[in-house]
Amino acid sequence: MEKLVEELKRKFRPKIKPIEWKGDKLVLLDQRFLPFETRYFEARTVADVAEAIRNMVVRGAPAIGITAAFGMVLSLVEKKPRTVEEALNTLTSAKETLAKTRPTAVNLFWALERMYNKATEIATSTATVDELKSALEEEAKRIFEEELDAEIRIGLYGAELLENGDTVLTICNAGGLATGTGLGTATAPIYVSMMLGKQVSVVAPETRPWQQGARLTVYELIQNGVPTKLIADTAVGLVMLKRLVNIVMVGADRILLDGHVYNKIGTLNEAVLAHEFGIPFYVLAPTSTIDPKSRVEDVEIEERDPDEVRTARSNQGIVYVTLKEVPVYNPVFDVTPPKYITGIITEKGVATQPLYKNLRKLLNM
Ligand code: MRU
Repeated sequence: MEKLVEELKRKFRPKIKPIEWKGDKLVLLDQRFLPFETRYFEARTVADVAEAIRNMVVRGAPAIGITAAFGMVLSLVEKKPRTVEEALNTLTSAKETLAKTRPTAVNLFWALERMYNKATEIATSTATVDELKSALEEEAKRIFEEELDAEIRIGLYGAELLENGDTVLTICNAGGLATGTGLGTATAPIYVSMMLGKQVSVVAPETRPWQQGARLTVYELIQNGVPTKLIADTAVGLVMLKRLVNIVMVGADRILLDGHVYNKIGTLNEAVLAHEFGIPFYVLAPTSTIDPKSRVEDVEIEERDPDEVRTARSNQGIVYVTLKEVPVYNPVFDVTPPKYITGIITEKGVATQPLYKNLRKLLNM
């Protein structure tokens, strides 16, 4: 596998660059305006990074984690601490600010913890502030590089499940925009299959309310030459009944050790329907999305601005599709119980049922 991973890394030419680190700023492809406009958001401060994550300039679990990691580095660029002690205080406050941006995707907390632990490890040696900053910059870059490596492996494991001519049902955008690399998690098997000479097509539900499917997945798949059909979220059942898809592949924002999967609202519907129709349902995510500590009752499902449901994002900007004052419930993630999941594909391999046993095995726990 190692040779193939290296070869695919060399061959892989992303068409999009959602996250670019420039040494003193982070340049983010602003996903609020896609696919109509290509705009970039420059983050130079922790407040900028927090705004970018909270307001969905950048979104998707791995991309949020990578952005937050660079946000930690930016805190030192911004505040210019004079001592290592001051630097650690700056990092503590940056970590607190960034952790408050979005509650569900665990990659955010994972990346912040990893960056902070690196800082304390360096601080106990005789490092200067400059050395501490360089070490953190390297760590953030490593998190970014490891993500691409993980996705190529996920792509190879996932591609084994796909045959020439297959059609994959996905949800939301778990593609290159959501991970920062251009490859993605749920999309990795599709791109890898193409690189290996197989043709696979995709059915993408629009994914209300924020329309990640309609605006982002369709945009990136078509840009990469993948035959893609857009459906309304409400068409998922019929698409399965008519066998217009062979397999479901979705990303994840958090996976618990017992196999519960948090992902974009609507994932649960797809999983239950797939179970009913006997269609394999796979979750694809790097192991940084696995939360070894939490139980279902600990995880907060993010609820966002009611206006996201009252409006639609169009090429005319944001337009109301209902009464401005109608009460709204807007949970943006759901949780799928393990019994509906055929397997979880990570860079370390595929965990199948029983997930509570096989996920631990995969992690050597
Ligand atoms: O609210 P979003 O757009 O950040 O939600 C994204 C998702 O739910 C993705 O499916 C998940 O983060 C996996 S991304 C590889």
